[in-house]
Amino acid sequence: MPLRLPEPGLDERKHSESLADLIRAEIRAGGGPLDFARYMELALYAPGLGYYSAGATKFGAAGDFVTAPELGFVFARCLARAVAPTLRATCGDVLELGPGSGALAVELLLELERLDALPRRYMLLERSADLRERQHAALMQRCPHLEKLTSWLDAPPAQSWGGALIANEVIDALPVRLFALDDAGLRARVVGVDDNGRFTWREIPADASLTQSAESALAELWSALPRPYRSEVRPMLKPWLAEVTRSMTYGAAWFIDYGYPRAQFYCQQRSEGTLRCHYRHRAHDDPLAWPGLQDLTAWVDFDDLKRAAGAAGFPSAVDVTQAQFLFEHGLDAVFSDAYAQTCDEATRYRLAQEVKRLTLPGQMGETVRVAVLHR
Ligand SMILES: C[S@@+](CC[C@H](N)C(=O)[O-])C[C@H]1O[C@@H](n2cnc3c(N)ncnc32)[C@H](O)[C@@H]1O
Repeated sequence: MPLRLPEPGLDERKHSESLADLIRAEIRAGGGPLDFARYMELALYAPGLGYYSAGATKFGAAGDFVTAPELGFVFARCLARAVAPTLRATCGDVLELGPGSGALAVELLLELERLDALPRRYMLLERSADLRERQHAALMQRCPHLEKLTSWLDAPPAQSWGGALIANEVIDALPVRLFALDDAGLRARVVGVDDNGRFTWREIPADASLTQSAESALAELWSALPRPYRSEVRPMLKPWLAEVTRSMTYGAAWFIDYGYPRAQFYCQQRSEGTLRCHYRHRAHDDPLAWPGLQDLTAWVDFDDLKRAAGAAGFPSAVDVTQAQFLFEHGLDAVFSDAYAQTCDEATRYRLAQEVKRLTLPGQMGETVRVAVLHR
């Protein structure tokens, strides 16, 4: 039975309809269907209308999804332990990409202060004015004495810098191209409009760029995959990674995201790909529903990420599961210290639940991976 989504309110519908009008206009102006990557770009980032550009709650219990930093402080405290040696060695900066509600920035700064490893500057790269405001408010509420270290950017730093670059669940929000593979060959899955103005799926012959991306991603897996097979590629990852790291002359980068190594990403179990939509804590697979009101994400092919890292000048990228990463960076100590500091059973229970959510294989423990890049 198809999942029934909660009905949006009147204002939300109007908002989504304005964005849908903009997308329809672009389809008409182009004289044909829109590549899905462009649809995703508009649905998430169209100025003033896209999911991340407009004012929806998005993060946390009242929003559409929960990320690791939104669960509590455990993730940030472990990440601080991973990042501290780099900051001490470089006396450098932190650049956080896509800081969301600001929860990670707050807890990371507080823990780095406790570890005596504060960065020279904490830069937040955020394009959305609404999210910048929320991040600033979170920092002012929790650590106003550290506000002097923070600054907001709308593009990667132009001047050379060194230190730690952090991006949690950012790559999975970068647009993807969709493809379908059947006995007739490779086709692009694109977005058209029917006579009633509704968005519909279309399949058209794959262009040279999509063919090259899919052939390079699937390589020897191509013949082993079932037919029909649908999935996605993210050709913009390589230029994006090169751009966001261009001015970083030394240090390390941590990319944390849902994803798999390539052989587990393109496989029989995922014959419909990994594109998912999040709307008020319901995960579903209809990205054409309510543009602007729901988050769209596609998981990360970590071999693709490591290749893009190599091309961007990070020769030795490694990746591990989130559970492994957290245990390697002090999860036991973070948990036992926090447990010992409270006698309140409800707080202890929440802490235990947070650790379970972060580390259990069926939750974030093995579905989220951490790639560490050094330059
Ligand atoms: C799923 S949210 C994650 C937010 C936050 N990092 C967290 O863990 O809660 C995705 C974030 O990536 C940001 N983002 C998407 N594309 C980006 C880009 N090209 N550069 C920087 N940030 C981007 C979005 O604005 C959003 O804040």
